[in-house]
Amino acid sequence: MCGLLHDIDYEQITGKENMDAHMKEHCGELTKKFLKEIDFPADLIRVIQSHNEVQNIPRDSRLAKALFAVDGLTGFIVAVSKIMPDKQISSVKVESVIKRFKEKRFAAAVNREHILSCETELGIPKERFVEMVLESMKDLRFKNNINN
Ligand SMILES: [Fe+2]
Repeated sequence: MCGLLHDIDYEQITGKENMDAHMKEHCGELTKKFLKEIDFPADLIRVIQSHNEVQNIPRDSRLAKALFAVDGLTGFIVAVSKIMPDKQISSVKVESVIKRFKEKRFAAAVNREHILSCETELGIPKERFVEMVLESMKDLRFKNNINN
C-alpha cells in the first residue's frame, strides 16, 4: 500500500516545471491530509513522507528504506525497458540494468545513490536488489496483462 500511495499528491501539487516547489510540496501536508482521510496508519504515513528527503523525515524502518530504494529503481527499470527492441519489461535483464547505472546520461533524472541505498541502508547487494524488483515488476505485469 505504501508503494501504491507514495505519490498520491502528484497531480495536485506544483508540477515539475518548478522543481523546487514540487519537491517542497511533495509528500508534505497534502499527502498527510489525504492519507488521514482514508484512516491510513500514522506510522505508514511517515514511511510515505520519508521517501521524499526534502520532508526531512528519517527513514527509520526497513519499509521506509525499501520504499526509498525501490522508488528510484522502478523508474530506472522502465527506462531500460524502453530501449529494449520490443520495449518490454520482460526483456530486461539484471545485467542490463546494472550496466546502465554507470551511464550518467541514461535516465539522468534517476538518482543512483537512492537506488544504491539498497546496499548501504538495507544491506542487499545491488545485483540481488535489482533481481528482486525486476522479477516483481515482471510478475505484476504478467498478472495484470500489461504489455509495458
Ligand atoms: Fe515521490
